[in-house]
Amino acid sequence: MEERTIQVNHCSTRKEKPKSDQLQFGRIFTDHMFVMDFTDPLGWHDARIVPYQPLTIDPSAMIFHYGQSVFEGLKAYLSPDGDAQLFRPEKNLQRLNQSNERLCIPQINEEFALGAIKKLVELEKDWIPGSEGTSLYIRPFIISTEPYLGVAPSRRYKFIVILSPVGAYYKEGINPVKIAVENKYVRAVSGGTGEAKTGGNYASSLKAQEMVAGSGYAQVLWLDGVERKYIEEVGSMNVFFKINGEVITPVLNGSILEGVTRNSVLQLLKHWEIPVTERKISMEELRQANKDGLLEEAFGTGTAAVISPIGQLTWNGQHIYINDGKTGEIAKRLYDTMTGIQYGMLEDPFNWIE
Ligand code: COI
Repeated sequence: MEERTIQVNHCSTRKEKPKSDQLQFGRIFTDHMFVMDFTDPLGWHDARIVPYQPLTIDPSAMIFHYGQSVFEGLKAYLSPDGDAQLFRPEKNLQRLNQSNERLCIPQINEEFALGAIKKLVELEKDWIPGSEGTSLYIRPFIISTEPYLGVAPSRRYKFIVILSPVGAYYKEGINPVKIAVENKYVRAVSGGTGEAKTGGNYASSLKAQEMVAGSGYAQVLWLDGVERKYIEEVGSMNVFFKINGEVITPVLNGSILEGVTRNSVLQLLKHWEIPVTERKISMEELRQANKDGLLEEAFGTGTAAVISPIGQLTWNGQHIYINDGKTGEIAKRLYDTMTGIQYGMLEDPFNWIE
Protein backbone atom coordinates (compact mmCIF):
# COMPACT_ATOMS: atom_id res chain seq x y z
CA MET A 1 0.00 0.00 0.00
CA GLU A 2 1.41 3.38 -0.96
CA GLU A 3 0.88 5.93 1.82
CA ARG A 4 -0.30 9.32 0.60
CA THR A 5 -1.61 11.24 3.62
CA ILE A 6 0.02 12.45 6.81
CA GLN A 7 -2.10 12.73 9.96
CA VAL A 8 -1.05 15.55 12.28
CA ASN A 9 -1.54 15.34 16.03
CA HIS A 10 -0.35 18.61 17.59
CA CYS A 11 1.23 18.68 21.04
CA SER A 12 -0.73 20.45 23.77
CA THR A 13 2.20 22.28 25.36
CA ARG A 14 5.22 23.71 23.59
CA LYS A 15 8.72 23.31 25.04
CA GLU A 16 10.84 26.33 25.83
CA LYS A 17 13.28 27.08 23.00
CA PRO A 18 17.01 27.27 23.76
CA LYS A 19 19.02 30.47 23.32
CA SER A 20 20.44 30.16 19.83
CA ASP A 21 23.93 31.39 20.77
CA GLN A 22 24.32 28.61 23.36
CA LEU A 23 23.43 25.64 21.21
CA GLN A 24 25.46 22.46 21.17
CA PHE A 25 25.09 19.64 18.67
CA GLY A 26 22.13 17.27 19.00
CA ARG A 27 21.07 17.59 22.61
CA ILE A 28 17.70 19.33 22.28
CA PHE A 29 14.71 18.15 20.25
CA THR A 30 11.67 19.97 18.93
CA ASP A 31 7.99 19.50 19.82
CA HIS A 32 6.97 17.06 17.07
CA MET A 33 8.33 14.10 15.10
CA PHE A 34 7.32 12.19 11.99
CA VAL A 35 6.62 8.45 12.24
CA MET A 36 5.61 5.84 9.64
CA ASP A 37 5.37 2.06 10.08
CA PHE A 38 6.22 -0.83 7.81
CA THR A 39 4.54 -4.18 8.22
CA ASP A 40 4.57 -7.14 5.90
CA PRO A 41 2.57 -7.41 3.58
CA LEU A 42 1.02 -3.93 4.00
CA GLY A 43 4.19 -1.93 3.26
CA TRP A 44 4.76 1.58 4.65
CA HIS A 45 1.64 3.00 6.28
CA ASP A 46 0.25 5.25 9.03
CA ALA A 47 2.37 8.28 8.23
CA ARG A 48 1.87 10.77 11.04
CA ILE A 49 3.29 13.79 12.80
CA VAL A 50 2.92 13.38 16.53
CA PRO A 51 4.25 15.08 19.69
CA TYR A 52 7.96 14.23 20.26
CA GLN A 53 7.86 11.34 22.72
CA PRO A 54 9.62 8.12 23.79
CA LEU A 55 8.88 5.00 21.75
CA THR A 56 7.40 1.82 23.14
CA ILE A 57 9.29 -1.03 21.52
CA ASP A 58 9.41 -4.70 22.43
CA PRO A 59 12.73 -5.68 24.09
CA SER A 60 13.02 -8.48 21.55
CA ALA A 61 12.80 -6.02 18.63
CA MET A 62 15.59 -6.81 16.17
CA ILE A 63 17.14 -3.33 16.29
CA PHE A 64 18.32 -4.00 19.87
CA HIS A 65 20.10 -7.21 18.95
CA TYR A 66 21.48 -7.05 15.44
CA GLY A 67 21.46 -3.33 14.71
CA GLN A 68 19.52 -3.43 11.45
CA SER A 69 19.06 0.30 11.01
CA VAL A 70 19.96 3.25 8.78
CA PHE A 71 19.98 7.00 9.27
CA GLU A 72 20.55 10.30 7.53
CA GLY A 73 21.56 13.81 8.57
CA LEU A 74 20.64 17.05 6.82
CA LYS A 75 19.88 20.59 7.88
CA ALA A 76 17.24 23.32 7.54
CA TYR A 77 18.50 26.91 7.54
CA LEU A 78 16.69 30.17 8.10
CA SER A 79 16.94 32.37 5.00
CA PRO A 80 17.26 36.18 5.32
CA ASP A 81 13.53 36.52 4.54
CA GLY A 82 12.60 34.03 7.26
CA ASP A 83 11.96 30.93 5.12
CA ALA A 84 13.11 27.42 6.01
CA GLN A 85 15.49 26.11 3.37
CA LEU A 86 16.85 22.60 2.93
CA PHE A 87 20.21 21.77 1.35
CA ARG A 88 20.04 19.01 -1.32
CA PRO A 89 17.54 16.89 0.65
CA GLU A 90 16.91 14.58 -2.31
CA LYS A 91 20.56 13.43 -2.12
CA ASN A 92 20.06 12.34 1.48
CA LEU A 93 16.89 10.44 0.63
CA GLN A 94 18.58 8.71 -2.31
CA ARG A 95 21.40 7.69 0.02
CA LEU A 96 18.89 6.51 2.63
CA ASN A 97 17.48 4.09 0.05
CA GLN A 98 21.01 2.96 -0.92
CA SER A 99 21.68 2.27 2.76
CA ASN A 100 18.29 0.49 2.98
CA GLU A 101 19.32 -1.72 0.10
CA ARG A 102 22.57 -2.72 1.84
CA LEU A 103 20.82 -3.38 5.17
CA CYS A 104 17.88 -5.35 3.64
CA ILE A 105 15.41 -2.66 4.73
CA PRO A 106 12.46 -1.95 2.39
CA GLN A 107 12.76 1.09 0.15
CA ILE A 108 10.88 4.26 1.04
CA ASN A 109 9.18 6.57 -1.44
CA GLU A 110 11.74 9.41 -1.62
CA GLU A 111 9.27 12.00 -2.86
CA PHE A 112 6.81 11.20 -0.09
CA ALA A 113 9.56 11.24 2.54
CA LEU A 114 10.74 14.65 1.29
CA GLY A 115 7.17 15.96 1.57
CA ALA A 116 6.99 14.59 5.13
CA ILE A 117 10.27 16.27 6.10
CA LYS A 118 9.13 19.58 4.61
CA LYS A 119 5.80 19.38 6.44
CA LEU A 120 7.52 18.62 9.77
CA VAL A 121 10.10 21.40 9.30
CA GLU A 122 7.36 23.88 8.40
CA LEU A 123 5.43 22.94 11.54
CA GLU A 124 8.60 23.44 13.63
CA LYS A 125 9.86 26.51 11.78
CA ASP A 126 10.04 28.54 14.99
CA TRP A 127 12.71 26.08 16.16
CA ILE A 128 15.18 27.02 13.40
CA PRO A 129 17.79 29.05 15.27
CA GLY A 130 18.97 32.37 13.88
CA SER A 131 22.52 32.86 15.22
CA GLU A 132 25.51 32.45 12.94
CA GLY A 133 26.53 28.84 12.39
CA THR A 134 23.30 27.40 13.79
CA SER A 135 20.63 25.37 11.99
CA LEU A 136 17.91 22.79 12.51
CA TYR A 137 19.49 19.34 12.14
CA ILE A 138 17.13 16.79 10.60
CA ARG A 139 17.67 13.16 11.57
CA PRO A 140 15.61 10.65 9.55
CA PHE A 141 16.19 7.04 10.62
CA ILE A 142 14.74 3.56 10.21
CA ILE A 143 14.80 0.85 12.86
CA SER A 144 13.82 -2.82 12.68
CA THR A 145 11.03 -3.51 15.17
CA GLU A 146 9.98 -7.12 14.64
CA PRO A 147 10.08 -9.01 17.96
CA TYR A 148 12.28 -11.93 16.86
CA LEU A 149 15.74 -13.16 17.82
CA GLY A 150 16.53 -15.00 14.58
CA VAL A 151 19.17 -13.40 12.39
CA ALA A 152 17.12 -12.37 9.36
CA PRO A 153 15.76 -9.16 7.85
CA SER A 154 12.99 -7.78 10.07
CA ARG A 155 9.44 -7.80 8.73
CA ARG A 156 8.54 -4.62 10.66
CA TYR A 157 10.16 -1.19 10.73
CA LYS A 158 9.63 2.36 11.88
CA PHE A 159 10.75 5.35 9.83
CA ILE A 160 11.12 8.35 12.14
CA VAL A 161 12.27 11.93 11.62
CA ILE A 162 13.35 14.04 14.59
CA LEU A 163 14.65 17.61 14.58
CA SER A 164 17.31 19.25 16.72
CA PRO A 165 18.37 22.92 16.79
CA VAL A 166 22.17 22.79 16.63
CA GLY A 167 25.31 24.89 16.93
CA ALA A 168 28.80 23.93 15.75
CA TYR A 169 29.64 20.20 15.66
CA TYR A 170 33.24 20.67 16.78
CA LYS A 171 33.94 23.19 19.53
CA GLU A 172 36.79 24.38 17.28
CA GLY A 173 34.25 25.44 14.57
CA ILE A 174 36.21 26.37 11.43
CA ASN A 175 39.48 26.38 13.40
CA PRO A 176 41.86 23.52 12.55
CA VAL A 177 41.69 20.31 14.58
CA LYS A 178 44.39 17.82 15.58
CA ILE A 179 43.96 14.37 14.07
CA ALA A 180 45.66 11.06 14.95
CA VAL A 181 46.21 8.56 12.13
CA GLU A 182 44.71 5.22 13.23
CA ASN A 183 46.88 2.17 12.59
CA LYS A 184 45.18 -0.50 14.67
CA TYR A 185 41.44 -0.19 14.18
CA VAL A 186 39.62 0.22 10.87
CA ARG A 187 36.27 1.82 10.13
CA ALA A 188 35.19 -0.34 7.23
CA VAL A 189 36.33 -2.62 4.42
CA SER A 190 35.20 -2.90 0.84
CA GLY A 191 32.26 -5.29 0.79
CA GLY A 192 31.28 -4.32 4.34
CA THR A 193 28.83 -1.58 5.26
CA GLY A 194 31.18 1.43 5.08
CA GLU A 195 29.34 3.09 2.22
CA ALA A 196 25.98 2.77 4.01
CA LYS A 197 24.92 5.16 6.75
CA THR A 198 24.21 2.62 9.45
CA GLY A 199 24.70 2.86 13.19
CA GLY A 200 27.17 -0.02 13.41
CA ASN A 201 29.82 1.92 11.46
CA TYR A 202 29.68 4.65 14.08
CA ALA A 203 29.62 2.22 17.03
CA SER A 204 32.78 0.54 15.73
CA SER A 205 34.53 3.91 15.34
CA LEU A 206 34.20 4.87 19.01
CA LYS A 207 37.11 2.88 20.42
CA ALA A 208 39.78 4.52 18.25
CA GLN A 209 38.42 7.99 18.92
CA GLU A 210 38.22 7.39 22.63
CA MET A 211 41.84 6.23 22.74
CA VAL A 212 43.17 9.48 21.26
CA ALA A 213 40.70 11.97 22.75
CA GLY A 214 42.66 12.21 26.00
CA SER A 215 45.73 13.41 24.08
CA GLY A 216 43.88 16.36 22.55
CA TYR A 217 42.98 14.81 19.19
CA ALA A 218 39.53 15.73 17.85
CA GLN A 219 39.28 12.62 15.68
CA VAL A 220 41.19 9.84 13.92
CA LEU A 221 42.16 9.51 10.27
CA TRP A 222 40.95 6.13 9.00
CA LEU A 223 43.16 4.03 6.75
CA ASP A 224 42.02 1.21 4.45
CA GLY A 225 41.19 -2.07 6.16
CA VAL A 226 43.45 -4.30 4.05
CA GLU A 227 46.87 -2.66 3.71
CA ARG A 228 46.49 0.16 6.29
CA LYS A 229 48.15 2.41 3.75
CA TYR A 230 45.49 4.40 1.96
CA ILE A 231 43.47 7.22 3.49
CA GLU A 232 39.69 6.73 3.69
CA GLU A 233 37.88 9.18 6.00
CA VAL A 234 38.47 11.48 8.94
CA GLY A 235 36.25 10.84 11.97
CA SER A 236 32.74 10.74 10.51
CA MET A 237 33.69 12.99 7.58
CA ASN A 238 35.15 12.69 4.09
CA VAL A 239 38.64 14.11 3.71
CA PHE A 240 40.42 16.35 1.20
CA PHE A 241 44.10 17.36 0.77
CA LYS A 242 45.69 20.10 -1.30
CA ILE A 243 49.09 19.07 -2.60
CA ASN A 244 51.08 21.31 -4.93
CA GLY A 245 47.98 23.15 -6.17
CA GLU A 246 45.85 20.04 -6.72
CA VAL A 247 42.97 19.03 -4.44
CA ILE A 248 42.73 15.26 -3.85
CA THR A 249 40.07 13.20 -2.12
CA PRO A 250 40.03 9.40 -1.73
CA VAL A 251 38.06 7.80 -4.57
CA LEU A 252 34.86 6.00 -3.54
CA ASN A 253 35.89 2.37 -3.17
CA GLY A 254 32.96 0.67 -1.48
CA SER A 255 34.08 1.40 2.06
CA ILE A 256 33.85 5.21 2.00
CA LEU A 257 30.55 7.00 2.58
CA GLU A 258 29.54 9.22 -0.33
CA GLY A 259 29.01 12.49 1.50
CA VAL A 260 26.58 15.11 0.21
CA THR A 261 29.08 17.78 1.30
CA ARG A 262 31.90 15.83 -0.44
CA ASN A 263 29.88 15.83 -3.66
CA SER A 264 29.10 19.56 -3.30
CA VAL A 265 32.77 20.41 -2.64
CA LEU A 266 33.81 18.49 -5.77
CA GLN A 267 31.24 20.44 -7.81
CA LEU A 268 32.37 23.78 -6.38
CA LEU A 269 36.07 23.10 -7.02
CA LYS A 270 35.35 22.09 -10.63
CA HIS A 271 33.20 25.22 -11.05
CA TRP A 272 36.14 27.34 -9.80
CA GLU A 273 38.48 25.46 -12.16
CA ILE A 274 40.67 24.33 -9.31
CA PRO A 275 42.35 21.01 -10.23
CA VAL A 276 40.63 18.25 -8.27
CA THR A 277 41.11 14.49 -8.41
CA GLU A 278 39.36 11.52 -6.80
CA ARG A 279 42.01 8.85 -6.36
CA LYS A 280 43.76 6.61 -3.87
CA ILE A 281 46.13 8.54 -1.64
CA SER A 282 48.46 6.91 0.85
CA MET A 283 49.79 8.19 4.17
CA GLU A 284 53.30 7.75 2.76
CA GLU A 285 52.49 10.07 -0.17
CA LEU A 286 51.14 12.62 2.29
CA ARG A 287 54.24 12.38 4.49
CA GLN A 288 56.50 12.84 1.49
CA ALA A 289 54.47 15.80 0.18
CA ASN A 290 54.77 17.42 3.58
CA LYS A 291 58.52 16.76 3.64
CA ASP A 292 58.83 18.37 0.20
CA GLY A 293 56.84 21.40 1.37
CA LEU A 294 53.98 20.58 -1.02
CA LEU A 295 51.19 19.69 1.43
CA GLU A 296 49.21 22.90 1.51
CA GLU A 297 45.89 22.05 3.14
CA ALA A 298 43.81 19.26 4.65
CA PHE A 299 40.17 19.37 5.69
CA GLY A 300 37.18 17.17 6.46
CA THR A 301 33.74 17.64 4.90
CA GLY A 302 30.37 16.65 6.34
CA THR A 303 26.86 17.91 6.97
CA ALA A 304 27.38 18.47 10.68
CA ALA A 305 30.60 20.55 10.56
CA VAL A 306 30.49 21.51 6.82
CA ILE A 307 34.28 22.07 6.46
CA SER A 308 36.67 21.19 9.27
CA PRO A 309 40.32 22.13 8.60
CA ILE A 310 43.07 19.80 9.84
CA GLY A 311 46.02 21.61 11.42
CA GLN A 312 48.04 18.60 12.53
CA LEU A 313 48.21 14.90 11.72
CA THR A 314 50.12 12.51 13.94
CA TRP A 315 51.26 9.24 12.35
CA ASN A 316 53.49 6.70 14.07
CA GLY A 317 54.67 9.35 16.52
CA GLN A 318 55.59 11.85 13.76
CA HIS A 319 53.75 15.16 13.63
CA ILE A 320 52.75 16.62 10.30
CA TYR A 321 51.89 20.30 10.66
CA ILE A 322 49.71 21.64 7.88
CA ASN A 323 49.62 25.31 6.83
CA ASP A 324 51.19 26.28 10.20
CA GLY A 325 48.06 25.00 11.94
CA LYS A 326 45.97 27.71 10.26
CA THR A 327 42.81 27.44 8.16
CA GLY A 328 43.77 27.16 4.50
CA GLU A 329 42.54 29.38 1.69
CA ILE A 330 40.51 26.69 -0.08
CA ALA A 331 38.92 25.42 3.16
CA LYS A 332 37.87 28.98 4.04
CA ARG A 333 36.53 29.71 0.55
CA LEU A 334 34.58 26.43 0.54
CA TYR A 335 33.19 27.08 4.03
CA ASP A 336 32.12 30.62 3.16
CA THR A 337 30.55 29.55 -0.13
CA MET A 338 28.78 26.46 1.21
CA THR A 339 27.36 28.28 4.23
CA GLY A 340 26.59 31.35 2.11
CA ILE A 341 24.44 29.20 -0.19
CA GLN A 342 22.92 27.24 2.71
CA TYR A 343 21.84 30.40 4.56
CA GLY A 344 20.55 32.06 1.39
CA MET A 345 23.19 34.82 1.48
CA LEU A 346 24.82 33.81 -1.80
CA GLU A 347 23.47 32.88 -5.19
CA ASP A 348 22.72 29.15 -5.61
CA PRO A 349 24.16 28.32 -9.05
CA PHE A 350 23.55 24.57 -8.72
CA ASN A 351 19.95 24.70 -7.43
CA TRP A 352 20.96 23.02 -4.20
CA ILE A 353 18.40 24.79 -2.04
CA GLU A 354 14.80 23.51 -1.69
C1 COI B 1 28.32 14.45 9.45
O1 COI B 1 29.44 14.87 9.20
O2 COI B 1 27.31 15.07 9.15
C2 COI B 1 28.20 13.18 10.14
O3 COI B 1 28.10 12.17 9.56
C3 COI B 1 28.23 13.25 11.61
C4 COI B 1 26.97 12.80 12.21
C5 COI B 1 26.93 11.31 12.32
C6 COI B 1 26.77 13.46 13.54
